[in-house]
Amino acid sequence: FNVYGIDTNKKTIENGLKAVEKNLEGLVSKGKIEAEKKDAILSRMAFSTDLDNVGDADVLIEAVFEDMDLKKEMFKKFDKQVASEEALILSNTSSLSVSEIASVTKRPERVAGMHFFNPVPIMRLVEVVRGALTSDETVEQVKELAGLMGKTPIISADSPAFIVNRLLNALTCEAARIVEEGVGSVEDVDTGAKLGLGHPMGPFELFDFLNGIPLLLHVTDYMTEQLGERFRMPVWVKNLARAGLAGRATGRGFYDYSQEGK
Ligand SMILES: NC(=O)c1ccc[n+]([C@@H]2O[C@H](COP(=O)([O-])OP(=O)(O)OC[C@H]3O[C@@H](n4cnc5c(N)ncnc54)[C@H](O)[C@@H]3O)[C@@H](O)[C@H]2O)c1
Repeated sequence: FNVYGIDTNKKTIENGLKAVEKNLEGLVSKGKIEAEKKDAILSRMAFSTDLDNVGDADVLIEAVFEDMDLKKEMFKKFDKQVASEEALILSNTSSLSVSEIASVTKRPERVAGMHFFNPVPIMRLVEVVRGALTSDETVEQVKELAGLMGKTPIISADSPAFIVNRLLNALTCEAARIVEEGVGSVEDVDTGAKLGLGHPMGPFELFDFLNGIPLLLHVTDYMTEQLGERFRMPVWVKNLARAGLAGRATGRGFYDYSQEGK
């Protein structure tokens, strides 16, 4: 692929390029690719702060902030600027409605979700999200594209949090209720998830690592509204966010990091 990365923030572009270089160097040092291949990949990449350069794109993957108004603004621009009617116009959104994003374009059949997982170079999954008007051909092409990227696609309808984050949020809600009911401690729930379910991190550790308690609440509130009470997070978790405790970066989340260096 020839890849063109666009961000309004120059520093983000510099950091992104550095991260790509570091990942490729890692592959070279492990003997997984030749140094020439790394150079060839980098030579096919270009970066810019100018959105006017998307005109001849075959595939456009949007990954701006998770904000519906901003996404709609971007998709209106893409619709005007991307010349090819065959182009795929995709969103990496983790939770927003792909049907709603597509509604601002004149080609909703070519719009779909292509949801990657962090850290993207390591995680093999891609969720392909079918909006209400996404065509079968578009879904097939996004699946094929994911395969070409070495990823395994799964298909999700356009529904809050799609498949994987819905599973994760259901697990985390139940984990919080287990603690609330005094059935088990935060530590024991995490150890149980790791040693009993084979998860690399327990749900509390994971959201602390991501500094993601406010985001978790934002998404589960939305899921409660859309899908029902089973996603309602207990008040003790809401209180953490209200107290400004987002996770590891704030010194405390589900765990206290200030003393133990956990
Ligand atoms: N962080 C994750 O783990 C993760 C995983 C999967 C999907 N996503 C999705 O990816 C998207 C981005 O999330 P993120 O965590 O990377 O957010 P982020 O805040 O780290 O990055 C968003 C980027 O968008 C850029 N941006 C904002 N407005 C722009 C514009 N008008 N034109 C060009 N660039 C613009 C910002 O400069 C920023 O670099 C969201 O839709 C999110 O749901 C995130």
